[in-house]
Amino acid sequence: MKKNISLTRYLVEQQRVDGLIPGQLRLLLEVVARACKRISFAVNKGELGDVMGTAGSENVQGEVQKKLDIIANETLIEANEWGGHLAAMASEEMEGIYVVPNRYPQGEYLLMFDPLDGSSNIDINMSIGTIFSVLKKPEGHPGVHESDFFQPGTQQVAAGYCIYGPQTTLVLTVGDGVAMFTLDREQGSFLLVEENVTIPEDTKEFAINMSNMRHWDEPVKRYVDEVLAGKEGPRQKDFNMRWVAAMVADVHRILCRGGVFMYPWDKREPLKPGKLRLMYEANPMSWLIEQAGGMATNGRERILDIKPTQLHERVSVVLGSKNEVERITRYHLEAD
Ligand code: AHG
Ligand code: MN
Ligand code: MN
Ligand code: MN
Repeated sequence: MKKNISLTRYLVEQQRVDGLIPGQLRLLLEVVARACKRISFAVNKGELGDVMGTAGSENVQGEVQKKLDIIANETLIEANEWGGHLAAMASEEMEGIYVVPNRYPQGEYLLMFDPLDGSSNIDINMSIGTIFSVLKKPEGHPGVHESDFFQPGTQQVAAGYCIYGPQTTLVLTVGDGVAMFTLDREQGSFLLVEENVTIPEDTKEFAINMSNMRHWDEPVKRYVDEVLAGKEGPRQKDFNMRWVAAMVADVHRILCRGGVFMYPWDKREPLKPGKLRLMYEANPMSWLIEQAGGMATNGRERILDIKPTQLHERVSVVLGSKNEVERITRYHLEAD
């Protein structure tokens, strides 16, 4: 591995050697990284920078927006709208799509993001992040429509996240494995720290919001009961639970050392498939997990195969170490 090479050089070499990254996509990824760098600096300032607390508004999902949700959303839009690489953007914090204004050239890519993941962690100095996913605009019609975004996750051409924790680390896939880049604050650039990230197939670690237990479906209860039974139970080993309450951080831990993450459907809102959003949370994370040798399903089917019908569509999520996700998926299918 060419450790410590810059993100720019990594992308240039990927473009040169494998032709995996066309020039416009490379520009797009550089711009997203630059926006994440700006968000990271805002996050770092905390109370010193007027970035904490709520903004007093609500997003389309009925969540109270934090100031940083809005700052991160605006930062990503401002960074990306002028470069000529994008046709439109979609975000957790915007009801409809954001079409690149006429004063800028229109590109062929579509960018989706969760500008700030883990909003409940902002005010307590815990890890948060930005998640993004890139699609190509379908050809054959002028302009751009919301339905252009309704492509299954298998169609993603790039996906990743940036975690703002003790370090700021950008994690990326363009379909050729997963690479990690940590922000060097003195140089001001992201440097490669890990390539070909691989998730162990087995694990003793699980992540789920246990306070929702009474609302879960039987297969999820069965799985968690079994792991909680530890050495004395059917799994014959003790498990540990970890829950950061920011998907970015929980997925980052799994990419670093394995584990399983679940945000399942629950009885409180039977008509909602789950809490997490398919297009800008589940799809990019599922592709990263698969690229690292893991697995991601909604309990029954592969997340990346789901064809979205709405921008803010939700989905049940089970992802991480392969053997564990396979088991949980089997429990669901057995119960059907
Ligand atoms: P967001 O902050 O972008 O709305 O996403 C929050 C999500 C996800 O990051 C996390 O896994 C989950 O919400 C935690 O939710 P609860 O603490 O409500 O279970
Ligand atoms: Mn939110
Ligand atoms: Mn989120
Ligand atoms: Mn968010």
